[in-house]
Amino acid sequence: MDDFPAGFAHYPLYFSPSEQQSLIASVKAGALQAPFYQPTMPRTGTPLSVVMSNFGKLGWVTDKEKGYRYETTHPKNGNPWPAIPQALLKLWDDVTGYDARPEACLINWYHKEKTSMGMHVDLDEHDLRAPVVSVSLGDPAMFRIGGPKRGGATKGLKLYSGDVVVLAGDARICHHGVSKVFYGESALVPKGGRINLTMRRVNILKQTT
Ligand code: SIN
Ligand code: FE2
Repeated sequence: MDDFPAGFAHYPLYFSPSEQQSLIASVKAGALQAPFYQPTMPRTGTPLSVVMSNFGKLGWVTDKEKGYRYETTHPKNGNPWPAIPQALLKLWDDVTGYDARPEACLINWYHKEKTSMGMHVDLDEHDLRAPVVSVSLGDPAMFRIGGPKRGGATKGLKLYSGDVVVLAGDARICHHGVSKVFYGESALVPKGGRINLTMRRVNILKQTT
């Protein structure tokens, strides 16, 4: 895509409306085992504006005491995270062609008005060569991406329900965030808002040859 970092890809409406419905059903089912919870920033304890859960062997969590990390269990109820739905693993295979599957799928729910996600780089994974794949469901959002350094110019792209974004190559280590959610524009998410699913490979696959 013009002017976007190399390795950035956007697949508008990758998932049809009925596929989006079934992803939402998977999120709802997963939330029975691993309910959405309010994460907090390292050190300050400031709550993030989104609420979170995860699918996968590893889930990304954050809190005041221990900061950003991956955990095998839910921080509040100790349950393992539900498995990553097949439709998402199939997406990963389709858009990355990467030789290892993701262990983690973070679920961010922009659940109320004025939720956003500050500019950041995903750096808690050991395998930074593996792409990050993200799925947008529900209300549209303004996604922003800049360069590898904090600050500087950013480009915006409005993401709609069913869209997929891939951060591979140079884009994998670029700052990105969500500046605005167009709250109330979609009826897909039962209690409203936007759900973002972000798959990541955490550990480097050991060579067996
Ligand atoms: C993130 O990068 O953590 C979320 C991106 C998104 O919600 O689209
Ligand atoms: Fe991110």
